[in-house]
Amino acid sequence: MPLLNSATHYGAMTRFLHWAVFLLFVYQYVGANLMTRIGSGKTLFGLTQGTYYNWHKSIGLVLLVLVLLRLAWRKLTPLPDWAPTLAPDERTISHWNETLLYGCMILLPVSGYLFVMAGDYGIKLFGWHDLPNPIGKREGLATLARVVHIMIAYATIVIVAWHVGLGLKHQIFDHDRFLARMLPFVRR
Ligand code: HEM
Ligand code: HEM
Repeated sequence: MPLLNSATHYGAMTRFLHWAVFLLFVYQYVGANLMTRIGSGKTLFGLTQGTYYNWHKSIGLVLLVLVLLRLAWRKLTPLPDWAPTLAPDERTISHWNETLLYGCMILLPVSGYLFVMAGDYGIKLFGWHDLPNPIGKREGLATLARVVHIMIAYATIVIVAWHVGLGLKHQIFDHDRFLARMLPFVRR
């Protein structure tokens, strides 16, 4: 499979970035719900609550880098044309849906970062290196960033649901191999 997108196909790099981000998002939701429920001082599968928090923060920052790479890649190698089987209104909604998805993918890690830095909780990157805090303790900002983080986390589920629903609708009801455009290792 070619690395670059062509006029009709997503290339290997776009597909890799799409599914790497998806898998890390799944990890973030599962990890976040575990870490906020374990209780301090308790362990789960041999890991402390602090470890889950640190991994959530660290993977969140990796996600920010991947998403910025993905946006840069989208600018460097333009996307293929719309799938011919997408109706005009599906194209319009998909355009706005993808714009919102990128907004969420950026705002989520940024708000998480602002929350922990302004709250002065710190980030020990993968349990290995303390990141400097360029913001300093600012309680108002921390509260705002936390609310934004949690609200966007759950709004993202709704936005992704539309995106996945469209893919499944085309695959299951229209039988037009729409999903194959993005699945890894699948040529049309
Ligand atoms: C795309 C990346 C991220 C996703 C999808 C994500 C998702 C979530 C979710 C679903 C929650 C649980 C909300 C709840 O039910 O209470 C959460 C909480 C949290 N996230 Fe993230 N997050 C991301 C990145 C980050 C980053 C980069 C940081 C910090 C550097 C961070 C720090 C936190 C903290 C500290 C909480 C606990 C909030 C609290 O309840 O006090 N997150 N995140
Ligand atoms: C975290 C979850 C997800 C996010 C943030 C996301 C985001 C995106 C974005 C932004 C695009 C546009 C191409 C690009 O810029 O890379 C895209 C395309 C696509 N996604 Fe997802 N996606 C997610 C999950 C899924 C899942 C679970 C499926 C499969 C059921 C899926 C199927 C597709 C397909 C088939 C395309 C190509 C659409 C077309 O040809 O117009 N995505 N996705």
